[in-house]
Amino acid sequence: MSTWAVVVAAGRGERAGLGENKVFYCLGGVSVLSRALRALRESALFDGCVLVLAAHDRAAYEALCAREGRCPLVREIAEGGETRQASVLNGLRALPEDCEIVAIHDAARPFVTADILSRSIELARQTGSGVACAPVVDTIKEVEADGRVKTLDRERLRAAQTPQTFRRAEIVRAAEEAEQNGWSATDDADLYERCWGRVTLFTAPESPGNIKLTTREDFMREESAFRVGMGFDAHRLVEERKLVLCGVNVPCERGLDGHSDADVAVHALMDAILGALGLGDIGRHFPDSDNAYRGISSMLLLARVMRMVEERGWRVANADVTIVAQRPKLAPYIEEMRRNIAEALGVAVDCANIKATTTERMGYEGRGEGISAQAVVLLAKGSV
Ligand code: CTP
Ligand code: MG
Repeated sequence: MSTWAVVVAAGRGERAGLGENKVFYCLGGVSVLSRALRALRESALFDGCVLVLAAHDRAAYEALCAREGRCPLVREIAEGGETRQASVLNGLRALPEDCEIVAIHDAARPFVTADILSRSIELARQTGSGVACAPVVDTIKEVEADGRVKTLDRERLRAAQTPQTFRRAEIVRAAEEAEQNGWSATDDADLYERCWGRVTLFTAPESPGNIKLTTREDFMREESAFRVGMGFDAHRLVEERKLVLCGVNVPCERGLDGHSDADVAVHALMDAILGALGLGDIGRHFPDSDNAYRGISSMLLLARVMRMVEERGWRVANADVTIVAQRPKLAPYIEEMRRNIAEALGVAVDCANIKATTTERMGYEGRGEGISAQAVVLLAKGSV
């Protein structure tokens, strides 16, 4: 007789609004789904796992396995359904005959501990069910349609989580019966109770940490507080072009060649920011094959990059840019560049540093063939 897990990962993650199914989102370099599967595997309590995936997420899952390794616990993949309940039922139907105990777990709860899993399984063996719960911290009010409010006794309330573990035969019967009768429920314990009359709940000391990543704020809270990015760019110096650096028109007989205004310093800075956001580089966002960007001021593009920073809940903590040019002499323009950049990044002037250096006539910058720039930026969470 074996113990299995059914991990449901076939939602859309709409409330998280991350542009993809939230279980594929990487927290600290590892996806939520891999973290959840790893927690189950490392508990050493399971003989196998059925992973429930939406058909349209199969390619994303394969990419995840290629990147993070295939979890050996996953022995079956079942197709997701329209609702979580339908996904669970598909997962239950894919269990092997010799499975006696099954833990149903949300892939969106990656912080589950071995202790919670083991208590859940133990209770299911003894009583038929073991449902992880957390104590309720807020005072919960029940609001009637006519506006009357009833305050519930917090001591008697529990927030149901997963794992919800059951004797397989019993939960399968409960889930099949619900399907036949058209009952719906947001958790498995509810279906079990309707069929078998009683469920066993438990809370563990770590229960408050076993959160379901649901909203964008949940993800932001779990992300590290800082992100760093670096950028580099170089442009050729040619006749009949203006020289624009950090949005300043620098008097010079030659200017930088490029599709936009070729502001090499701002390009390096944008690449540093996009790098910190994990969003690739400026070529991806503002392709030079697109005429919309011909001759455009790079400061306008920087404003768009800053919108991406804000939309994702980050802000710039500080930035440091080095411009490498043999000539012209840039010192007289540095303060104006600095003010421009500080304003665009929304930081104090002392958080936007601009430096210029020569290469003592070595290399392409030294020979005056071109100018390069490097940038480093630190992003902080909006709330830090
Ligand atoms: N889930 C599922 N199949 C569905 C809906 C949900 O397998 N049709 C899974 C989710 O992938 C998640 C778990 O059930 O791991 C808990 O659901 P929820 O937190 O509601 O996730 P989503 O449905 O993805 O999110 P949202 O409701 O915000 O769209
Ligand atoms: Mg949902």
